Amino acid sequence: MPIRRLAAEERLTTSFPLQAYAFEASPLTGERVEAFHRYLPYNKGNRTLVVEEGGETHAAASAIPMRQNLRGRVLPMAGVAGVATHPLARRQGHVRALLHQLLDEMRDEGHPLSALYPFRAGFYERFGYVGLPRARTVRFSPADLGPLLRADLPGEVTWERIGAGYPGYRAFTERCLRERHGFAIFPDFRAVGLRDRDDRWLVTARIDGTTVGVLTYRIDDHGGELHGDDLLVGDPYARALLLRFLARHVDQVERISLQVPADELPELWLTDLAVHMEARVSRPGSPAPMARLLSVDALAGLPAGPGRVRVELVDDRWLGGTHLLDGATGHLELTSGGPAPSATLTAAGLSALAYGVLDPVEVAVRGLGSIGPEAAAELRRLFPRELPYLFADF
Ligand SMILES: CC(C)(COP(=O)(O)OP(=O)(O)OC[C@H]1O[C@@H](n2cnc3c(N)ncnc32)[C@H](O)[C@@H]1OP(=O)(O)O)[C@@H](O)C(=O)NCCC(=O)NCCS
Repeated sequence: MPIRRLAAEERLTTSFPLQAYAFEASPLTGERVEAFHRYLPYNKGNRTLVVEEGGETHAAASAIPMRQNLRGRVLPMAGVAGVATHPLARRQGHVRALLHQLLDEMRDEGHPLSALYPFRAGFYERFGYVGLPRARTVRFSPADLGPLLRADLPGEVTWERIGAGYPGYRAFTERCLRERHGFAIFPDFRAVGLRDRDDRWLVTARIDGTTVGVLTYRIDDHGGELHGDDLLVGDPYARALLLRFLARHVDQVERISLQVPADELPELWLTDLAVHMEARVSRPGSPAPMARLLSVDALAGLPAGPGRVRVELVDDRWLGGTHLLDGATGHLELTSGGPAPSATLTAAGLSALAYGVLDPVEVAVRGLGSIGPEAAAELRRLFPRELPYLFADF
């Protein structure tokens, strides 16, 4: 079946309708079809591949050229999105063929990482992806933030629409990309959609003129909910400044919700803060993200503990061979010789260790590798657990 890369405008009549059928309410209204035109610029730098036959589009898959922090190093990452097959063409191997070619091309163009939000994790585990934590939604009443109103804090907050404050917001996400493991951001052509939609407020915390935290949000109604997006803060002052701003909405909304990383502990933010935190993972509809390495080169130079292990990479199209991983210098080196305990890993197994989400024993228990106790100890030293926070939602 021929696979072809789409030119930008072709999406309007090929991949967009297929994606809309897979992911939206349908049949589509004429108004929605019109909106495809507005969405086009935010897709222009994506790589979109389709399977076609007789002028009909049978399946489509896209990759967004993104960047992601892996244990402190920022690397090009292929964000896979818009994977859909025509209902009459499913289960014929189209998506398998598309993903193979898409990831081949993205890796060859220098993307050693890939991430996505799966419709079903098991489907993508077979393509070497492993689950990452889902962001938590935290809900509380603004009344419980009252004590912060009297807190003595350095710095101040500014408030504006995201359309006006976008450059500062984007700059702060660039800082998070440099500093936070797992953090991923869109390329400019896609990220500016947030500015152009202009459907969020932006509150920015600054200390001595430097941005230390940002939050975008919208309010659904008087007496309703203030829906915050990701709470992005560089330190506890930044968080307190933003929460104090939210406390001022006590007579305006009943509830506040925020998205926070999986290792955030809101119950420790304040005394007497009644807080509900949840991460709902269901299929289809509410997935936790997944990620994988597309090249072992992603590992070279990563900060690492003093471990030494030989890994044989199996059952994967993109990762293979035997590599000696050595962390003696404090940075991971891939060498070829010398004695060391050995382990066998699938791509998902190696990705789980590199992204810091699973212990070597969990990798073995999950069937993502065969790892003896000695190799497990070395791998644990090389890849200490470190929870990634993906941030970008696509
Ligand atoms: C899910 C979907 C993309 C699969 O596309 P497809 O072209 O039918 O997939 P393929 O035929 O290439 O299947 C590849 C493999 O996955 C298996 N597979 C396909 N759909 C599956 C499913 N829903 N659950 C589990 N396995 C599935 C196939 O059996 C095949 O396995 P095999 O290689 O051992 O034979 C397609 O059904 C679809 O468009 N669904 C609606 C939209 C959607 O959910 N998109 C995914 C967004 S991340």
